Formats: sequence, C-alpha cells, structure tokens
Amino acid sequence: MAALLFLSLLSSLFFQFCSCESPWQIMTTGSYMTPEDHDRIFLLSPDSTFSCGFHRVGTNAFNFAIWYTTVKTVVWTANPYSTVNGYSSPVNLYGSRISLNKDGNLVLTDTNGSTVWESKTSSGKHTIVSLLDTGNLVINDSGNKIVWQSFDSPTDTLLPWQNLKKDTRLVSGYHYLYFDNDNVLRLLYDGPEITSIYWPSPDYDALANGRNRYNSTRVAFLDDMGNFVSSDGLNIVASDSGPGIKRRITIDKDGNFRMYSFDASTGSWVVTGQAVIQMCYVHGLCGKNGLCDYSGGLKCRCPPEHVMVDPTDWNKGCKPTFTISSKQPHEDFTFVKQPHADFYGFDLGSNKSISFEACWNICLSSSSCISFTYKGGDGWCYTKNILYNGQVYPYFPGDNYMKVPKSFNSSASSISKQENLTCRPNGSEIMLGSANMYGIKKDNIKWIYFYVFAAILGALELLVIVTGWCLFFGKSNMPKSMEDGYKMITNQFRRFTYRELREATGKFKEEIGRGGAGIVYRGVLEDKRIVAVKKLTNVSQGEEEFWAEVTLIGRINHINLVRMMGFCSEGKNRLLVYEYVENESLDKYLFGDRTTESLLGWSQRYKIALGTARGLAYLHHECLEWIVHCDVKPENILLTRDFDAKIADFGLAKLAKRDSASFNFTHMRGTMGYMAPEWALNLPINAKVDVYSYGVVLLEIVTGTRVSSGVIVDETQVDFPDFIQEAKQILASESIADLVDAKLKGHFDPEQAIAMVRIALSCLGDRSKRPTMDKILQALMSFDDEDDHPAYSY
Ligand SMILES: *[C@@H]1O[C@H](CO)[C@@H](O)[C@H](O)[C@H]1NC(C)=O
Ligand SMILES: *[C@@H]1O[C@H](CO)[C@@H](O)[C@H](O)[C@H]1NC(C)=O
Ligand SMILES: *[C@@H]1O[C@H](CO)[C@@H](O)[C@H](O)[C@H]1NC(C)=O
Ligand SMILES: *[C@@H]1O[C@H](CO)[C@@H](O)[C@H](O)[C@H]1NC(C)=O
Ligand SMILES: *[C@@H]1O[C@H](CO)[C@@H](O)[C@H](O)[C@H]1NC(C)=O
Ligand SMILES: *[C@@H]1O[C@H](CO)[C@@H](O)[C@H](O)[C@H]1NC(C)=O
Ligand SMILES: *[C@@H]1O[C@H](CO)[C@@H](O)[C@H](O)[C@H]1NC(C)=O
Repeated sequence: MAALLFLSLLSSLFFQFCSCESPWQIMTTGSYMTPEDHDRIFLLSPDSTFSCGFHRVGTNAFNFAIWYTTVKTVVWTANPYSTVNGYSSPVNLYGSRISLNKDGNLVLTDTNGSTVWESKTSSGKHTIVSLLDTGNLVINDSGNKIVWQSFDSPTDTLLPWQNLKKDTRLVSGYHYLYFDNDNVLRLLYDGPEITSIYWPSPDYDALANGRNRYNSTRVAFLDDMGNFVSSDGLNIVASDSGPGIKRRITIDKDGNFRMYSFDASTGSWVVTGQAVIQMCYVHGLCGKNGLCDYSGGLKCRCPPEHVMVDPTDWNKGCKPTFTISSKQPHEDFTFVKQPHADFYGFDLGSNKSISFEACWNICLSSSSCISFTYKGGDGWCYTKNILYNGQVYPYFPGDNYMKVPKSFNSSASSISKQENLTCRPNGSEIMLGSANMYGIKKDNIKWIYFYVFAAILGALELLVIVTGWCLFFGKSNMPKSMEDGYKMITNQFRRFTYRELREATGKFKEEIGRGGAGIVYRGVLEDKRIVAVKKLTNVSQGEEEFWAEVTLIGRINHINLVRMMGFCSEGKNRLLVYEYVENESLDKYLFGDRTTESLLGWSQRYKIALGTARGLAYLHHECLEWIVHCDVKPENILLTRDFDAKIADFGLAKLAKRDSASFNFTHMRGTMGYMAPEWALNLPINAKVDVYSYGVVLLEIVTGTRVSSGVIVDETQVDFPDFIQEAKQILASESIADLVDAKLKGHFDPEQAIAMVRIALSCLGDRSKRPTMDKILQALMSFDDEDDHPAYSY
C-alpha cells in the first residue's frame, strides 16, 4: 500500500491525478485515471446525464466506458474484448490507467504497461477531452475542433443523434447491425462457421421489405421523438413516440436490436420497438445443430442423439453423440423425425414435387447429407449437411429428419418410413420461397386470407414473450431491463378495459367518424396520448378469436397504415384503439367544400396515391398474401399533418360477420361504387378487390370528383361505366387536362396524371388482368419525381 501511495505521489509529479472527490468536466493533457477510482466518476457531462470512467465487469476486470449516471447502463466501451486489471501490484510500475499524453493521444494501458486501446490522435498538448450531454466523448484540439469522438466508434448501443454510418456497425457477439453494400441496413450473424443475414427477411428483396437500395447516404439514427430512421427507408417508431424521453437503440445478446425508453417512474428501461418480431428468426440463436422451439414457450433444444457442446452456452450449439463415417454403408442409418422443424438455409440441394420416400433415399444414399426437411403438399425436399438456424413452429407445414445410426433406439421418436403422410388438400400451401414462413389453411374459407395462422403465431408469440423468455436465457445472464422490456412490449399493444376507454373518451362524447364497422371517438389515454377509439358493431366472433385476430392486426406496423394500439373485449363490447391521425380523411379534401388554401395540390395528391399504394402493397405482399382490406375508399385514407396517407380499418373485414350467407350482395363488405364486380357475382374474394377499389380512388384523386357515384360532364350526369369509357377516350386523345380536377387550374404534372389514369383503368378491368399492388407501386414510383427508380414499362 505504501508502495502504491509512493508511486501515485511519484506519478503526480508528472501527471495530474484524479483523486478529486468531484468528477472532472474536462481532461487535459498529462492527466490520468486508474480503476482504483472506479467508484468515482471520472468525467461527467455538463447536465450529469452521462458519466465516463472505469466500469467493473469482473472482480478485478474493468472497461473504460460511458454510462448513464443514474442507471449505470453502459452505452459505449473502449475495450469491450480485452478488460484491464484493476489493481496494480507493487512490482508493476504503472497500474491500469486511461491517460491523455502530451501528444494528445488518449491511451488505455493495462497493469503491465501494454496499450489496450488508444484514440490514435496527436493533436498536441492543448488537447481537451470532454463528455457532452449527448453521451459523446470528444477529444478537441487546441482550436476546439473535434479530432475524435466515441460516436464514431459505437459498440452495441446507438444514442439519439448518433449516426450509424457506412463504416460503423453495432456489434453483440456474432451479431451485427450494419449497412450492407446494397445500402440496406441489416442484421447479420457472422459466426465461426456460417454467415447469414436474418433481418430484413432474407426471403424477400429489399423493395418487398420496404427498403430502398438506391440511397447510398447510408446513415441511420434515432431522433428525439423516438423515430429510428435509416436512409434505406426504414422507420421504426417508438411505441411511446414523443419528445422528452431518454432512449437508446441496443443490439442485445440475443441478436435482436431493440429500442429502449427510460421510464423515470420505475427507474428502468422498457422496450419500445424492435427489429425481429419472431425471436426464432434470429440466426445462430441456438447454435449449430440447435433448435429454437416455439411450441410451448421459446427455448433452445438439441435434436435427438445430440447434446449441448457447452451446457452453459447455447451459442455453441449441439453435437451428435455418434459419428457418420463415409465408409459406413448407408443401410446402417435411419432417420428420426422432428415434427414441424426446419434448419433455415444452407441446403445441399432442393427438389420439388418428389415423394417423401425419394427424399429419404436421396439423403440416405449421400454420405454428405446428414438431415433433410420434407414438406408435403408441394413435395419439397431439402437436403442438408450443415445445420444452423434451427426452428420449430407448430404450424410449419413440414418436418425435419435427422440421420442417425440404426442402432439408435428411441421408440418415441423413431419412425418407420412407411408412416402415412397426410397430404394437404390442393392449393393449401402457403409456403413461399424457402423455409422462413409457416402456415396452415383454414379449410372452409374461400377468402385468400392466409392470416389465421399468423394470428395464432401472434398470440403464441405474446405468450412466449411472457412465459418463455426467462426459461430461454435464464434470469441470471439477462439484464434486468430486458426482462422488464419484455413485459412492457406486451403492454404496448394491449388490452384496455371498457371503463378505461369510457374515461379516455369522456363517455364516448366526441365522435370523429362513423363507418360500416362502427363509430370512432376521440380519446385521451392516461399517459396523455391522443387516440381514436372505434366501437365495433356487428362483431360475431368469440373472445379468443377476436383476441387472436386483433393481436395480429396490432403487430402490423407500416408508415402508411394506421397503427392499432390495443383493444377492448368485454361482454358484448368490442373496441379498437388506434393512433390518432392529425388531419381528416381524403374525401373531405377531395369532395368537401374546401377553400383554395386547403385544396390538395398535385404533388400532395401524387404522394397520397403513392402512400396508399404502399400501404396496400404491404398488406397484400409484404408479409404473405395475408390481408385484403375490402373497403378501400377515400373515407378510409387518413392524412397526416404532412399529407402522408395512412390507411384505416384494414383487417376489419375479418372481424365482421361473415357466415356463408353474408356473401350475398346485401350483407357484403365494402362500399357501393368502390366494390369490384366479383362481390356481386359471388366469386371468391381476393386481393384484386382492393386493386379495383384503389383504381376508383385513383381516378377520384385525379378528377377531384366522386366518380364512383357518377360524374357531371358537360352539365349532364354520367354514370360510372360511361365515365370510364370517356376516360379511355380522353386518354387516347391525349387531352388529359380534361380529366384533371379543374380546381387545380392546370397546375399538375401531365406525365403523372396520364400514368395515374392509365393505372386506374387497368385496375378497373377484368380481375385476372388487374395488376397487383406491388406492380402498381412500382409503376407509380417510376413517375415519382423524388425517386430515382428504374422506369417501369407497361
Ligand atoms: C501484458 O499482459 C497481457 C495479458 O495480460 C499480454 O497479452 C501482453 O502481451 C502483456 N504485455 C507486455 C508488454 O508484457
Ligand atoms: C469540444 O468541441 C465540441 C464541438 O465543437 C464542443 O461542443 C465542446 O464543448 C468542446 N469541448 C470543450 C471542453 O470545449
Ligand atoms: C437519402 O437518405 C437521406 C437520409 O435519410 C435523405 O436525407 C435523402 O433525402 C435521401 N435521398 C433520396 C434520393 O431519397
Ligand atoms: C434432386 O436435385 C438434385 C440437384 O439439386 C439432382 O441432382 C437430383 O437428381 C434430383 N433428384 C430428383 C429425384 O429429382
Ligand atoms: C433396439 O431395439 C431392439 C428392438 O426393439 C432391441 O432388440 C435392441 O436391443 C435395441 N438396441 C439397443 C442398443 O438398445
Ligand atoms: C395409412 O392410411 C390408410 C388409410 O387410412 C390405412 O389403411 C393404412 O393402414 C395406413 N398405413 C399405416 C402404415 O398407418
Ligand atoms: C388436386 O390436383 C390434382 C391435379 O392438379 C387433381 O387431379 C385432383 O383432383 C385435386 N384434388 C383435389 C382434392 O382437389
């Protein structure tokens, strides 16, 4: 101890030593700090939000780090992979220390004097280190110019206004958040053996995932309102969106990245947004050969005849208890079925439309094949020799088979290959691409609504989040804040009591809208958020079904769709709680008695057409062909303050009464004038009905008149079919101005107008010839001035 003191004294002859009781505001050249001062803060930001100093991570192991002063949440670490020792022994001349040397280099040294980390700056002896209120540690040169900042080398956390750029990434273990070469922000698993992207969904291209590959700015940041925006078009909005809340984005140990907000009342962090919704989609989660199992709670497990490599660490996965040698005759092997399991990607090969037996034999006769996944229905056979990203979903329409020695006995799991394979009815397969999506089909439904299964997954997922999480990682190695976050996320989209909503709406006082599905009231929640509360009429579903359905709708999050925040289901009461959208619906602007100042300009109209198409394309294509809106009309297109379109009421068709009799004309969904002819013809209803309605809306946006209920042309009433004929002629004669809303006084883009009318007319045609929403979106985007997408040809 005496020696230590002596050394300290000795060093303080040369260095200013932080033994001060109060932390520093700045660090000047020649000063240093050691972990002995670990209980003292070294640098404090002016408003005291952030602290910087040595953070203890083991009995005698320290990181040089920045943390939130009150909660001690670490947001940046200089040396995440190589901690420094705490106490120097008398034989060592120096203890571990962080020092700003005379050249202006900030250096972290271990007890033996080796450099563990350095800022590599050389800005001279007038260099100053300070911690800003943003949590950014900066090194300023003598001209007070920043020469280095911690914001440029993030570890696992991004603070508000900290840019994630093309040369920076967030890291947690083998998981990375980074900008790929195609300008898209992605999550990557980069393990010792395999590398694979798992977010956004690798089964779709960037566009289908709502990302734009053509903005090479490559920057993502979290703003003050809780929007995490990226130059590729990603926008994750915090569920507690609004100013004045401390937030952060962190890539957690489980490979998902989440947005956290600080709840001052409980003094903890809560999850208010996240990237991957289904945790088993995170690659590498259960390691090699491991299976992430969703049935009965989220957990990792090993396949039959496999054991964990390291019983404390699922990342290391499982290993077989037998060996497969190429010399062994393949008759020695058989397969063990793992129901509803699959290992995503890394197939040796795949074959479609082959029998189960053929698939079995392909794998059996190949010494490199150690497992196969077979999906009935289409007869897909995937053979594998490396097993990663294992997932089990109760509704995955296939099974995995593991090759094991015949001597292996397990009456429970071993199967004979003559097992009866029950094939699904034709056309019931929902599988698109490879094994990422899982589905079942409800037998009796004509609708091409594939979302029943997703509802089940949605409900299941909530269950999993609540019950499974602790089992999965164990309480010990999970930060407290994360557990709380998981509870919180279930509260984000939540069930309200009737009393709560009655209070929020002042006993349903302020009616703001009325439609087929019910009446909408304005309400203010306890946390002061303004919401729209919809009281549903005509709901026939039982409690559980309703619950499952709205839970699914509540998971849908897209900028052009009105966000559902919760629901209430008590007795006969069924209510839905939505985000409140600032402006009125599109019809008020198009057909209302508006003064010229609130007239929608051309570019606003185009933006609304584009936004609506985006929203519908998302519903139809993004997540599976799973939701048909059934009631697209200007009344259901709400406008934000910036005139961005937000589609309301999607998913509600599913909640309404829909027994077989209700398919007839009198009971059907939708609104006269916007309904596709097939409604009347009692044909199966699919996404093309929305395309039709969208066509009508598009014409109305261009003409500014309610074409669906007839138009006045040259002072005579023209009905809709005649109007369409007329529009076709006008289009052919290239006098588009005759169609465009006269209120615009000629201020419009003729190219865009022609494109819109042309698209509209194609939407109104025979249903087999109608384009899909994503084709429409592409076409519209190609005429959008603000986008530089490749031109689309008809
Ligand atoms: C200091 O110790 C670390 C490990 O504790 C070692 O890797 C490094 O080589 C040592 N450096 C010197 C200069 O001895
Ligand atoms: C360092 O520079 C930044 C940016 O110019 C400034 O905000 C900060 O206050 C400076 N630090 C000190 C200690 O002056
Ligand atoms: C690209 O992204 C940046 C940042 O989000 C944005 O400011 C810019 O307008 C975008 N450019 C294009 C062409 O969309
Ligand atoms: C299955 O596909 C592989 C290539 O992936 C091919 O070599 C093999 O012949 C196919 N087998 C059958 C039965 O089609
Ligand atoms: C496997 O099962 C068979 C028949 O059920 C039995 O005769 C054999 O001894 C078992 N082998 C092992 C290794 O348990
Ligand atoms: C397969 O199903 C058929 C018809 O249900 C039945 O007769 C047959 O015994 C089943 N085979 C096996 C192996 O279970
Ligand atoms: C299934 O499809 C095949 C050929 O496409 C057809 O022959 C068969 O009748 C269909 N079965 C059912 C149950 O529709």
